[in-house]
Amino acid sequence: MEAGMVTPAPALVRFSSIQKTYDGEHLVVKNLDLDIRKGEFITLLGPSGSGKTTTLMMLAGFEVPTHGEIYLADRPIKNVPPHKRDIGMVFQNYALFPHLTIAENIAFPLSVRKSNKAETQERVSAALRMIKMETLAHRRPGQLSGGQQQRVALARALVFNPQLVLMDEPLGALDKRLREQMQLEIKQLHETMGITIVYVTHDQSEALTMSDRIAVFNDGIVQQIDRPDALYEHPVNSFVAHFIGENNVLAGTVETMEKNYCRVALAGGGTVTARAVNVSDAGASTSLSVRPERVSIVPDGTSGEGPNRLPARVQNSIYLGDHALAVLDVAGNAEFMVKLQPGAHHSLRPGETVSITFRPEDCLALDPV
Ligand SMILES: Nc1ncnc2c1ncn2[C@@H]1O[C@H](COP(=O)(O)OP(=O)(O)O)[C@@H](O)[C@H]1O
Ligand SMILES: [Mg+2]
Repeated sequence: MEAGMVTPAPALVRFSSIQKTYDGEHLVVKNLDLDIRKGEFITLLGPSGSGKTTTLMMLAGFEVPTHGEIYLADRPIKNVPPHKRDIGMVFQNYALFPHLTIAENIAFPLSVRKSNKAETQERVSAALRMIKMETLAHRRPGQLSGGQQQRVALARALVFNPQLVLMDEPLGALDKRLREQMQLEIKQLHETMGITIVYVTHDQSEALTMSDRIAVFNDGIVQQIDRPDALYEHPVNSFVAHFIGENNVLAGTVETMEKNYCRVALAGGGTVTARAVNVSDAGASTSLSVRPERVSIVPDGTSGEGPNRLPARVQNSIYLGDHALAVLDVAGNAEFMVKLQPGAHHSLRPGETVSITFRPEDCLALDPV
């Protein structure tokens, strides 16, 4: 091995050429190759209907792939039933047994696995401590809040020390504050227990907060698998650029290419220099992507001609507490957003003309949308 090379953790799960159709015609998972490393927190992120739950269900063993094979610790698992896969699961709707107490709910996976009484008691107590609900052991699910019920579901998924835990939109039913608190709790559990978690969500900020890596799904195809910061800074196509974070789009045509950059003539007038991400030829149409926080507004009449300086008409400005947004009309995009310091919006008058500027490296030439 080369000196200094880092060996990635071995794959705990491997999806190999996985396809899935429910009706025999339409593939809802198209050709999935995905390695999940031991110990990582990986999130499947994508819009509703993009195949996330189907992927998770095939890993759990509740759905069968139409084609391909899934390996768990190097063992093909197509013919291994769900309860023999050593996988814990948490769903959005908790799926607790209403007639059992909290302690009995948590003990359930242990009884399925024929754990003895002493061990069961010990593990259930530890799980109750973990979710800080020792005093509520004898209540029933109906006597708990949504957040408490989800903690119980979490404890139940973890109580038998599974090598892998799958979570499908587990916080979807909770309000924003509780959701954000639980995100941190789950992340902390992941770190202290060293387990592998495969998490499904359609919420990009949740994915960014929690994950070591994110696989972005669209229409049954993984668009990109990367660390959160890499997805944000280096999206490989327009879909990822739009799905992760806020994004301004300018339509244009590539005029010239030079190494990793290109000159682009905007459909709405003007020319800018952009990073050539997935355009390759002069003459190609492209969608430029620019993040709102990477744009500056310069008062009109200021001297200086940067490579990317465009006239903009102020439409509106919005105060949002910790920051403000200017809504501008830029090259035919009437909803071009620029992030400002709070208060900076006071100096912008609707109808006024200003100039904006952004660095070539902050402007990505992507596939047309
Ligand atoms: N049991 C099922 N039978 C038939 N079609 C299904 C079933 N489950 C999901 N689908 C379809 O498969 C596609 C992917 O669904 P799903 O995996 O649930 O997506 P996601 O979790 O990303 O919202 C959708 O078009 C959905 O309607
Ligand atoms: Mg789903």
